Amino acid sequence: MPSLPENGEGIGSLVKDPEDPPSNGSLERGGHGSSMRAYVVRTLPDYSPILVSNRAPHEPKPEGGFKRGAGGVITALLTMAEATGADWVACARNDEERQLAALQGAPVTVPLLHSTGRLHYAVPTREQYEMYYGVFANPVLWFIQHYLWDLGNEPVIDERIHQAWHEGYVEVNRQMAQKVVDVARVAPKRPLVLVHDYQLYLVPKLVREKVPSAIIQHFVHVPWPTPQYWKVLPQLMRDAILEGLLGSDIIGFQSSLDVRNFLLTCEENAGLQVDEHERAVFFGGRVVYARHYPISIDVSSTSRLASSRGVKRQERDLATWRPSRLIVRIDRTDPSKNIVRGFISYDKLLRYHPELRGRVQFWAFLQPSRQDVAVYSRYLRTIRQTVGRINSEFGSEDWLPIRLELGESERKAIAALRNFDVLLVNPVYDGLNLVVKEGALVNAVDGVIVLSENAGAHEELNAHVLSVNPFDVEATAAALYVGLTLGPEPRHRLNAGAREVVRASDITRWISRQVQDLRDLVVSQPVGAGQSQ
Ligand code: F6P
Repeated sequence: MPSLPENGEGIGSLVKDPEDPPSNGSLERGGHGSSMRAYVVRTLPDYSPILVSNRAPHEPKPEGGFKRGAGGVITALLTMAEATGADWVACARNDEERQLAALQGAPVTVPLLHSTGRLHYAVPTREQYEMYYGVFANPVLWFIQHYLWDLGNEPVIDERIHQAWHEGYVEVNRQMAQKVVDVARVAPKRPLVLVHDYQLYLVPKLVREKVPSAIIQHFVHVPWPTPQYWKVLPQLMRDAILEGLLGSDIIGFQSSLDVRNFLLTCEENAGLQVDEHERAVFFGGRVVYARHYPISIDVSSTSRLASSRGVKRQERDLATWRPSRLIVRIDRTDPSKNIVRGFISYDKLLRYHPELRGRVQFWAFLQPSRQDVAVYSRYLRTIRQTVGRINSEFGSEDWLPIRLELGESERKAIAALRNFDVLLVNPVYDGLNLVVKEGALVNAVDGVIVLSENAGAHEELNAHVLSVNPFDVEATAAALYVGLTLGPEPRHRLNAGAREVVRASDITRWISRQVQDLRDLVVSQPVGAGQSQ
């Protein structure tokens, strides 16, 4: 048994290893990178790590070459792959990836951050992938985990969803698990399997069945809702999800609330024995630990990017059009991000404070997301319509109330974050939200953050932000006003406090806390008799 903490922190936070890496060590080549890599190897010397996620770290471009996989999870996992030297198992999501997997066979060599990695693709058919990703994982699971269903009307768990469960989600999880097993069986050392996110809940159990010696961790990047809300899913599906996850040794979450909800779900929905104090579930004669490790950003490389020439260029451009006060939001166009209510709040701000008209602008820099899923394309349409209405009602020849930009540019996003007077991050529910951490770190003008109390990051940052209930558009309008009009001293205090939280707990801490917990676990669980690869 690992040494168990008693104060509600992760195991890792209690076991300060004399050889811990610097708390905000970068993974850059020639920086602290080699020390982080050495730390991981030193701490878990006898293991072959295998990272498992739906998206690959880099994806082939139709015109040749690679582009980085979208989303905060990939950014974090790239850092992790670089630190651990892991093999990576991902799903071929489109024709380019299917072709690459077929052409090169396994493994495919792909770029990571500064080195390359070995990528192994599971290759479901286009139809299987669509059922798994487009019908079941998004929206059914995603909507459950972010409490997005309008339950009086939806979801209707009909034949299509049952089919997507069996022929999509279960099948693709099976294929991913098989690929992990193939990689684990030829791994030079005992496999350490690190599975990520809601697309792959069934993988841990399937891998354990075939490779009982593996140490398995699953990290859930999205919120874990209450047991009652899980009952939106038929028992067959929710039981399979819990059993799949409980094939892990440790299940990681973003916040302590997620851990509590998970333990309650095991107890209430599956009748399992749970030890709340030790945050453990007893399942199938094993102990499974639940821990929270709030994800973070790479402080050094984000700071370096913020002072790069590319970002400076974007800032010069921004200076040519910005009015005196700037509200910023940066998000994927996902209903969980609550973008429309953010605009409604801004509409109210302009109504209640006409003196701000012409002096403020709301810059929404949004990344179109999952546009092949109907509910996501509808949401983007609603965003455009709402912006159109507000701009035509309040705008004038020389003032545009909302500047809506759709696209992806890391440099532009960082330039926006350096210059916000108010950053609006008001998700309905969010696993963590890395934009708020990036904003806290790089902002250069004592900007104020308006943050939803339902974002995972709120647990760490609440003392340094203006907290809002994301449904309360009146309160959000009021918080925007406070953010825009707060005096220099309190602005500076909030801004500096938020930055300090991020600096003290960057991505290397996210990794090292997990590595320490895994180390404690393996020390207590040598390969048992009868457990062979
Ligand atoms: O955990 C949320 C997540 O899966 C992250 O990978 C990322 O932030 C986002 O959703 C991207 O989603 P997708 O891979 O479906 O575009």
